[in-house]
Amino acid sequence: MSDPVRFDRRGAVGVITLDNPPVNALSLPLRTGLRDALAAGLDDPEIEAFVIHSAGRMFSAGADIREFDTGVAGESPTLPELIAQIEDSPKPVVVALHGTAVGGGCELPLACHARVAVPGTRIGLPEVTLGIVPGAGGTQRLPRLIGVLPALEAIVSGKPMDAERAHELGLVDELVMDGQDLVEVAVEVAERLVESGALPKARDRDDLLAEAREQPELFEQFRAKIARRARGFEAPYACIECVEAAVQRPFDEGLAFERETFVRCRSSLQSKAQRHVFFAEREARRVRGVGPDTAKLTIQRAAVLGCGTMGGGIAMCFANAGIPVRVTESEQAALDRGMEKIRGNYAATVAKGRLSAEDMESRLALIEPTLDFDSVSDADIVIEAVFEDMALKKDIFTRLDAICRPDAIMATNTSSLDVDEIAAVTSRPEQVVGLHFFSPANVMRLLEIVRGERTSPEVLSSALDLSRRIGKVGVVVGVCDAFAANRMLYPYAQQAQFLIEEGALPEQIDRVIYEFGFPMGPFGLGDLAGLDVGWRVRQHREPTRPKHLRYSSIADRLYEMGRYGQKTGKGWFRYEEGSRAPIPDPEVEQLIVRTSEELGIERRDISDEEILERCLFALVNEGARVLDEGISERASDLDLIWIYGYGFPRYRGGPMFYADSVGVDHVYATMQRFHEVHGDWLEPAPLLERLAREGGTFADWTPS
Ligand SMILES: NC(=O)c1ccc[n+]([C@@H]2O[C@H](COP(=O)([O-])OP(=O)(O)OC[C@H]3O[C@@H](n4cnc5c(N)ncnc54)[C@H](O)[C@@H]3O)[C@@H](O)[C@H]2O)c1
Repeated sequence: MSDPVRFDRRGAVGVITLDNPPVNALSLPLRTGLRDALAAGLDDPEIEAFVIHSAGRMFSAGADIREFDTGVAGESPTLPELIAQIEDSPKPVVVALHGTAVGGGCELPLACHARVAVPGTRIGLPEVTLGIVPGAGGTQRLPRLIGVLPALEAIVSGKPMDAERAHELGLVDELVMDGQDLVEVAVEVAERLVESGALPKARDRDDLLAEAREQPELFEQFRAKIARRARGFEAPYACIECVEAAVQRPFDEGLAFERETFVRCRSSLQSKAQRHVFFAEREARRVRGVGPDTAKLTIQRAAVLGCGTMGGGIAMCFANAGIPVRVTESEQAALDRGMEKIRGNYAATVAKGRLSAEDMESRLALIEPTLDFDSVSDADIVIEAVFEDMALKKDIFTRLDAICRPDAIMATNTSSLDVDEIAAVTSRPEQVVGLHFFSPANVMRLLEIVRGERTSPEVLSSALDLSRRIGKVGVVVGVCDAFAANRMLYPYAQQAQFLIEEGALPEQIDRVIYEFGFPMGPFGLGDLAGLDVGWRVRQHREPTRPKHLRYSSIADRLYEMGRYGQKTGKGWFRYEEGSRAPIPDPEVEQLIVRTSEELGIERRDISDEEILERCLFALVNEGARVLDEGISERASDLDLIWIYGYGFPRYRGGPMFYADSVGVDHVYATMQRFHEVHGDWLEPAPLLERLAREGGTFADWTPS
């Protein structure tokens, strides 16, 4: 391994180069090298100042997160020790930033005496997304440099800002102009500091904090502003407390408070869960049979068949990523309706101020509506999103096979049909894949990539690549009824329905699930998706149900009453005109109570705990079957599916991580008890039993 830190001289300036590929993580060898380089330069009478910069594509992505769990992050020199050494240096230290400077890779620059950056450099403190606070002075120095409100916004959202904005705010002192060399500019800045004798330190600044002291209500207002977005999360509030400490306490006390908070957050279950999700996203890109050398098709032109609910949203995904896309329908009226819906969706985003009118037009210009089916022949990828009907899909794929380029990817957005059966009508099943988007397709981040028996590694690799380009989290699963996501959703929703027959009401169940951290409960979700959609799914699933297994008919009755959910103003709940707020409806309660009577069930009080365990453990149990059957390669993929597909609270790490955290043996024992009382739907999955017996976890499980 090469030395992660180099030291060169440019006149009287010591230039320190960090070189720890691929992201210049601030690992122990790098920290040690930097400490030693600074110490040597301080001892050298010919060195009057320093420039720190990095080799490679970025300044630094920050701490090495894996060191958190091994304890190496705590070995001297720790990042806070190193940062103090820089700030206290009697010789000025100028940092030169390019690419990305985030986390510790931003905290270190904050302690330097001046910051120079290439325009476009992304600078920020994303620690909050890992369930922690910045732990090396970020919450104390940033508000001193850019002001309290901008610092709160940056730290609590975790979103990096570009160097231009950072320059406006005073974080970056100088931007490098076109044609200038970053290090040369930094050396000049260092020489100027030497000449002036100035040694500006963030810790000494108080002017912007003083302004904030004049507005003590600022913090409460900020908490109110993030309340919805941050519901259930601990770290955003811990970040606010640290910035509050920066305003109210002397620098060293604030720093100590930040450190304590950091250490507390780091060992919290929430942070472990959020770190798990961070690694799960990276892990999901590793797919059996797909390697770094697997060829990928770069997608330059796309086509979507069907411009309904899903097709329209999928077309928007391409346009949003700058990829031209054709959408087809077989009739003009349907095409016009679909395009109108797309335009309406964009217009709503413009009205909310999240998109400029100009960007809306340029995105719309990338979507080309057409009735000419054959015109999709030049697309690199075609995604079929027509009605859920096997005969129709087979017909479409036969026609696609005749016109598409040999290397084109032919994808189906089916939510339940057999991808292998669809692929079999083509002469090239290796080019066929399921790309299961979630509704609304332009919003939901999950993309379930369904690997058919014959799907080629190149197609999978290209699909994974595409998912990232269009801002989705791609998770590869195998073919089975309903794939992984919906397959796990069914037992969850089904238990909710059994529970209302036994004594609960939809509003109680939705409250429990909401308080657990989901954006809504199963009944609200049903009303949003449409009870007619669920009814149609049951029509083709029900005939396969073994007759000894219990069935809840209440949803069918609501459907027969024309209560389709939000779209008809009535479903499990009722809705006032123009509102999405669910209101409990006595008519539904009567129907539920009557159904219990008909079934001879004596209604009982059901505890919140039972609701949570019946619903969640049932879905974990199904997840265990999905793993055992080889439909999914790893439990963390299922966690991503639930976080990005259904809003499972990220701070709980996903259902399989949650099961590990409450104990697989507890989940198993509870399922056993439920099975005895409530019958076969709740029979513990063999994998759950095995893990419980062996003291295993889903996290450590690997396919045998
Ligand atoms: N709605 C969801 O939540 C959801 C989620 C994931 C996947 N899906 C799947 O996506 C697919 C589409 O579902 P949807 O909800 O968008 O349905 P939809 O009824 O809203 O849209 C289907 C569109 O396909 C068009 N169409 C029908 N035959 C066509 C043909 N021969 N050529 C071109 N266009 C044709 C129809 O006119 C209609 O506009 C289905 O396979 C469905 O299972 C739906």
